[in-house]
Amino acid sequence: MSARINPSILSADFVNFERDFASIAGADLIHVDVMDNHFVPNLTFGQPMVARMQQVTPLPLDVHLMIENPERWAVGYAEAGVFSVTFHAEATENPIEVARNIRAAGARAGVALKPGTDVDPYLEMLAEFDQLLIMTVEPGFGGQSLIEHTLAKVTKARRKIDQEALDVWLQVDGGIDEGNIERVAQLGADTFVAGSAVFKATDRDAQIQRLRNLANAGISHRH
Ligand code: DX5
Ligand code: ZN
Repeated sequence: MSARINPSILSADFVNFERDFASIAGADLIHVDVMDNHFVPNLTFGQPMVARMQQVTPLPLDVHLMIENPERWAVGYAEAGVFSVTFHAEATENPIEVARNIRAAGARAGVALKPGTDVDPYLEMLAEFDQLLIMTVEPGFGGQSLIEHTLAKVTKARRKIDQEALDVWLQVDGGIDEGNIERVAQLGADTFVAGSAVFKATDRDAQIQRLRNLANAGISHRH
């Protein structure tokens, strides 16, 4: 298993996405935060902009929907040709149905959990998803500090994924930086969103490689 680094363009220049994509060409995927100002108290952009982004970058887009009513909206993102669409468990009563519809539209399906949401019910239906996103901050804003108690869910989910040999990516998002990524990788994450930690760097591709090396060191030290 090799670590993936997904820079979050929430920290990019919103009127120069294409230019900023070029500065992170060494990323594994590009993490795209969609916020509707209802599910979270912040607003970014919608499906037409995400569809256009996927046309101007060869990198796969990893879309994180922080929106209400994913039943209504998630499939449209999958149809735009993005790589994966991750919706919040707290936003729907029917996570399995939403995931099946995303997969049917040709994208990988992810489910995301806020810091206060228990992982156990989702471990029982993990085969329905291609990615489990454990939020390590409250969703809505970049530049926050990682919340330690969320990492217990990473440990639990890794155990389940390995026990059942599932093809599920275990993603963490929020407050990931060069000071904690190795430890979070050792606990079980394999896919790392980093917004401020990548975009603050003057050489962003070098920073991505540095984060990836640290994460791979953590993965190789798992027991
Ligand atoms: C927060 C978003 C994150 C955010 C992470 O709600 O989901 O993707 O951009 O930013 P950092 O890495 O700065 O915490
Ligand atoms: Zn995100």
